[in-house]
Amino acid sequence: MSRNAALLAPQAGAEVTLTRDDMGFIARLVYEHAGIVIREHKEAMTRGRLARRVKALGLTSVAEYCAFLKTAAAESEIPELINAVTTNHTAFFRERHHFDHLRKDVLPRLLAERGQRRGRIRIWSSASSSGEEPYSIAATARDALGSRSDVDLKILATDIDTDILEKADAGIYPAELFDRLPADVRPWLKVETVGRGEVRIVDDLRRLLSFKRLNLIEAWPMSGPFDVIFCRNVFIYFDTQTKAAILDRFVGLLAPGGFLYLGHSESLPQPHPKLRLIGRTIYERTP
Ligand SMILES: C[S@@+](CC[C@H](N)C(=O)[O-])C[C@H]1O[C@@H](n2cnc3c(N)ncnc32)[C@H](O)[C@@H]1O
Repeated sequence: MSRNAALLAPQAGAEVTLTRDDMGFIARLVYEHAGIVIREHKEAMTRGRLARRVKALGLTSVAEYCAFLKTAAAESEIPELINAVTTNHTAFFRERHHFDHLRKDVLPRLLAERGQRRGRIRIWSSASSSGEEPYSIAATARDALGSRSDVDLKILATDIDTDILEKADAGIYPAELFDRLPADVRPWLKVETVGRGEVRIVDDLRRLLSFKRLNLIEAWPMSGPFDVIFCRNVFIYFDTQTKAAILDRFVGLLAPGGFLYLGHSESLPQPHPKLRLIGRTIYERTP
């Protein structure tokens, strides 16, 4: 390689910062399409996440990727951009108190009420990530249901990220995750071995669930009502205005007496006339 070519070629592992303009451009796109606020100090993290797309498209830099996003041909790239920038951290039985509340205070009452009328119980995991949250709901519900077939219980699990939804739907996880679970919940979350070091959630739990792509800031196709909505650890990425608009829509879909669970560091952007705080990040929809 000539000296000039060597100077022009991107060096392996070279870190090229996102310019202020490109960072602003990416932040605007992500906010517009997902409601996620990317702050300026997250430049290194954002650049790291975009590197995946740079490589997949055979480009050489994030600057080139930003230039591509400005072309008309880039429309189909937007979902990939969103997939790349989402934070999907989650865990089975994360924030355990919600599952305890569901098991002890919510499901027994719903089963008593609905069982007599062969009624429906509907639960929505609205930012379900790789599935640990909705499978934990399914495990809790299955334990409460036992062999009862007098109720129709279904869990809707949605996320904006199509890559993570595929993973969630497959229901395959490293076996070691299950070894670390608290001993009492371990028997509820039933799995079968599928390969070395990997297990799959059993069909008996998977059939309670359906995974769908849903963007919380766009139109929702469901009409509800839901008895419980999990919206955990996604509000932290939204601004006040986005949170307030989504909350209003949650309230519209929640059955009176239904519950909304938020993440550990989240709260309502402002008090809501139809939501009453009844426990740690647990809100009840008032009649
Ligand atoms: C940190 S994970 C939380 C997972 C789980 N709820 C929990 O608490 O363990 C946040 C999830 O929110 C999703 N998300 C971000 N923006 C979204 C939007 N506008 N609509 C739907 N999901 C979104 C991300 O794709 C990600 O999977």
